[in-house]
Amino acid sequence: MNSIEVNVNRPYEVQIGSGLLQDVGGHVRRLLPKVRTVAVVTDDTVGGLYLATVAASVARAGMEFCSYSIAPGEASKSGAEYLALLHWLAEAEVTRTDCILALGGGVVGDLAGLAAATYLRGVPYIQLPTTLLAMVDSSVGGKCGIDLPAGKNLAGAFYQPALVLADTDTLDTLPEAVFREGLAEVIKYGMLGSARLLDQLQGDDIMLELPSVIATCVALKRDIVEQDEFDMGQRMLLNLGHTVGHAIERLGDYTIPHGHAVAIGMAVDTRAAVRRGLCPAACLYLLESLLDRYQLPSRTAYGPEALFEAALHDKKRAGAEITIVVPCGLGQSELMTIPVASLQAWIELGVAT
Ligand code: NAD
Ligand code: GLY
Repeated sequence: MNSIEVNVNRPYEVQIGSGLLQDVGGHVRRLLPKVRTVAVVTDDTVGGLYLATVAASVARAGMEFCSYSIAPGEASKSGAEYLALLHWLAEAEVTRTDCILALGGGVVGDLAGLAAATYLRGVPYIQLPTTLLAMVDSSVGGKCGIDLPAGKNLAGAFYQPALVLADTDTLDTLPEAVFREGLAEVIKYGMLGSARLLDQLQGDDIMLELPSVIATCVALKRDIVEQDEFDMGQRMLLNLGHTVGHAIERLGDYTIPHGHAVAIGMAVDTRAAVRRGLCPAACLYLLESLLDRYQLPSRTAYGPEALFEAALHDKKRAGAEITIVVPCGLGQSELMTIPVASLQAWIELGVAT
């Protein structure tokens, strides 16, 4: 089992390993001795697979258990679902000394996290991520939120969990396509901060090394979040590939998988950086070979103008400037703030053949 401490305002531990769901009740008891009711939020697919394990563990630890299940998929990260969840928490008489468990992927984690942050002005919650993306990214760092009709993640909070338990056994049931989407984020961590991880990803059997790969990503995210919990600077590095990636998702009306969009976004940024002389060509070669190996795309059919227009909605835009993430070496990236008007030329460089 790997254990990583996240030393933010309210420090917590991220545990990564096999069989962790079996003892979730014991963890709640140890961390939050006053809990009487454990309220689990999950989705219909994940609940069908793992809710019974969690319920049994909670019962063994002597606490009451109740659960709320959403339909799987991004559409559940909505205002309507958020309010319905708050109503349910109130009806279930969950109190401030109880605990919410977010059992599922990033959708469940983001929605349950926001409910935990706001219900009774804050109830402790524990992240139980069951997708690769949620293990390496969304369950750590405290960002939670919902989508608005105007765009993704437009309403949210920073609210750190009390604990993250990433039970790697749950990845056995994850559809391969969803697993590969998570790999796009893993590659992102390699590009951001670890040449060693990039090396590991070229190895023969990534599945055997998965717990250590996840732990590396979490440690990289931890290092960034500890420096910049509220996303005022360095934390923007975690958005490598996301400016163009979000533009692609927007243009595709959110039918293009997030992992694919991020993969293309990273390739666009790396190509532009190489062509501007900011990054060695070897980085692009390595990134493209990794994307190819893990069956992730590196090219988009959308033109630079459409991508630019769509990218103007990016959250890293501040008035007439936008901060982009520029790969500059193997396992190294930097933030660069440029005039918004220059972004189109950057994207043109990145999509040109
Ligand atoms: P998801 O939560 O939609 O899960 C993907 C699919 O996999 C769903 O159908 C789900 O039911 C299924 N699933 C989950 N775990 C399973 C398992 N173990 N076995 C079988 N099926 C399983 O998608 P995701 O990729 O985990 O998360 C995407 C969300 O995360 C987006 O909303 C994104 O905005 C958010 N996100 C948040 C942050 C953050 O910092 N808060 C970071 C990155 C992404
Ligand atoms: N996933 C981006 C962040 O946590 O900041």
